[in-house]
Amino acid sequence: MTAPLLDVRGLSLSYGPVRALRGVSIDARAGEIIGIVGESGCGKSTLASALIGLPAPGATVAGEVRIAGEDFLALPEARRREWRGARVAMVFQDPMTSFNPVLTLGDQLVDFQHRSPVPRAEKRARAAAILARVGLPDPDLALRRHIHELSGGMRQRAAIAAALLMRPMLLVADEPTTALDVTMEAQIIHLLRELRAEHQGAIVVITHHLGVIGELCDRVYVMYAGEVVEEGTVDEIYHSPRHPYTRALIDCDPAHIDGPAGRLPTIPGRLPDLTGTLRGCAFQPRCPRAGPRCLALAPPRVAFGPTQAAFCHEAGR
Ligand SMILES: Nc1ncnc2c1ncn2[C@@H]1O[C@H](COP(=O)(O)OP(=O)(O)O)[C@@H](O)[C@H]1O
Ligand SMILES: [Mg+2]
Repeated sequence: MTAPLLDVRGLSLSYGPVRALRGVSIDARAGEIIGIVGESGCGKSTLASALIGLPAPGATVAGEVRIAGEDFLALPEARRREWRGARVAMVFQDPMTSFNPVLTLGDQLVDFQHRSPVPRAEKRARAAAILARVGLPDPDLALRRHIHELSGGMRQRAAIAAALLMRPMLLVADEPTTALDVTMEAQIIHLLRELRAEHQGAIVVITHHLGVIGELCDRVYVMYAGEVVEEGTVDEIYHSPRHPYTRALIDCDPAHIDGPAGRLPTIPGRLPDLTGTLRGCAFQPRCPRAGPRCLALAPPRVAFGPTQAAFCHEAGR
């Protein structure tokens, strides 16, 4: 087996007293799409910020983010800046974030190639080609547009084009379809699925929406309160979830609910306070299976075969 292209080991990140990530380990191989799923506030965007080497100012980070074997977080910021684009690129929930509103899309897509020695006309031609590739109907016209002149779905396509233009080893997409309606969402998922065949690198898709994961990803990491609580293939996570939290998430997924659309079930309770030390299992106060050990001891990693594991005292029983 080839070494993972992305290898995150024991990643912790705090915003002052808020321990937003606590010992997260994930990996992704070239050509693989992995999903990160969990409720709002569980640390997904924080993880994304660390993966692209841009934690919020003042955040304290520990652990490793290895990309092609090198620890990204250990590099000086000047080197990290070089890596962003060349090795890692990000697609945000709000595509406006990726663009400058006062420049045309064409000027920006040319600028994004500033490291390339090819002439400007050729960069513009590459930009038009990639816009066509992601499905913008009239790429030459789009290059002359400002970002606010495009529809939401077209903006997100343009943001994906911008990220791919730099041919990153690692593409991180944080809630790439959350701002879109269901039709647009389906189109963007379809696009990402197509692109993965051409993209040599790894793709990390972050979402609170399990449906997106099922359509798109090979493997999934389920996060709860700053930790990975379960990992597995999409099939394993959907059809034989082992962690009580994963089970609860799946039970709340609209796709799993039969009958007339009523109120969506939600998991009772809320995320624990992330300040201070959490004793035992973080999910224990909300867990239907919690026993005495869950109060006192950190949950062990229990493997269920080569690809699935859950961090839970009860999962294997
Ligand atoms: N820049 C920040 N400063 C302080 N706290 C933050 C910051 N960003 C996120 N947080 C806190 O960290 C936790 C995780 O947030 P986030 O990573 O945005 O979760 P998610 O993307 O899963 O919704 C939350 O408690 C949130 O309030
Ligand atoms: Mg987020």
